[in-house]
Amino acid sequence: MKRIPLLDIDAQLKPIREEVISAVTEVIDSKQYILGKRVQELEDKIARYSGSHHAIGVSSGTDALLIALMALGVGKGDLVITTPYSFFATAGVIARLGAAAVFADIDPVLYSIDPANIEEWLKKRPADTIKRVKAIIPVHLYGQCADMKDIMDVAGNYNIPVIEDAAQAIGAEYPFDGSIKRAGSIGLMGCFSFFPSKNLGGIGDGGMVITSDEVLAEKLKILRVHGANPKYYHRMIGGNFRLDTVQAAVLLVKFKYLDGWHESRQTNAIRYDESFRKANIPDSMINTPSPLYRGSVRHYHIYNQYVIRAARRNELRTFLENNGIGTEIYYPVPFHLQECFTYLGYRKGDFPYSEKAADETLALPVYPEITEDMQMYVVDKVKEFYSMG
Ligand SMILES: Cc1ncc(COP(=O)(O)O)c(C=O)c1O
Repeated sequence: MKRIPLLDIDAQLKPIREEVISAVTEVIDSKQYILGKRVQELEDKIARYSGSHHAIGVSSGTDALLIALMALGVGKGDLVITTPYSFFATAGVIARLGAAAVFADIDPVLYSIDPANIEEWLKKRPADTIKRVKAIIPVHLYGQCADMKDIMDVAGNYNIPVIEDAAQAIGAEYPFDGSIKRAGSIGLMGCFSFFPSKNLGGIGDGGMVITSDEVLAEKLKILRVHGANPKYYHRMIGGNFRLDTVQAAVLLVKFKYLDGWHESRQTNAIRYDESFRKANIPDSMINTPSPLYRGSVRHYHIYNQYVIRAARRNELRTFLENNGIGTEIYYPVPFHLQECFTYLGYRKGDFPYSEKAADETLALPVYPEITEDMQMYVVDKVKEFYSMG
């Protein structure tokens, strides 16, 4: 069996290579390299796809989160509640604005912030502390929505805006208020990343904020260009958060295939679920993901990552690597144990579910083009590892 990478960009590019190259060539020849008509077209498509009124293309998923917090005026002395278990950007942007991150532990099944823990923290705080909480950022980790119903209820009770970190979850669906909503469209703002490994990935960095709030949308557009409106006149301080035209052009090509890729990832995830079940590896050794919504919800989980929990995770990872199988740990250190956040005063043991996830999770290759044989090889190797004792 040849090497099975965690993600195979070559395989994705192969059937669309000519389309991508012609889209890039068109941008080169247009001499319009920043923002412009392609960015606008992508914004319109993603806003519609996600069920939001406005979309603002930005330079990365990190900048999408940063600009969303800036639009709410988050700064020194403010607090932002989020998960301790995500990619660094989620917490990094809070600290960069001089605000303090408040962590609430995850739900061990969804891997995203548990609304009960948010409520518990808020309940115990005096009114003047609660007033300092300027946002809640749930993360739809691995491609499945957080428990948005209860998160929105808690946030609503305390009047705190919700910014969805949907970097890994574009198109993921969630039943909400009698209809099916898509990731990013439930809170006040939603943030996407177009990092190449995402289900919709560019050929470099890119991101987007969506919102149905017209005033916020205008503010985000102004913040994206250093706060200038009109050009060279600044009533606020923004940054260079512009999306390159070439990324939009490539993303527009890839966007046509996005639902098909989601579906292939889902098929592959279900195949893993079934094959692991048939392999009869005890639950004490591995657990496959437990997605919450199926039935009428088409993209309940877009499987940006297929993440198992594994006993002796690091040894399993080395064994798989030695057998040509690429895996990754998302993420090995929760935020509260990161050196740069020591000043927040958290300690080991504060968020047991996040710490356990950091010790046990392992992402397996689930990209759309992986073949059934390759998946069977992965399952066989996992089984072999645990049968060696
Ligand atoms: C959950 C999460 N948040 C934020 C980001 C940041 O996105 P980007 O890498 O595009 O800056 C990522 C991407 O890696 C992510 O996975």
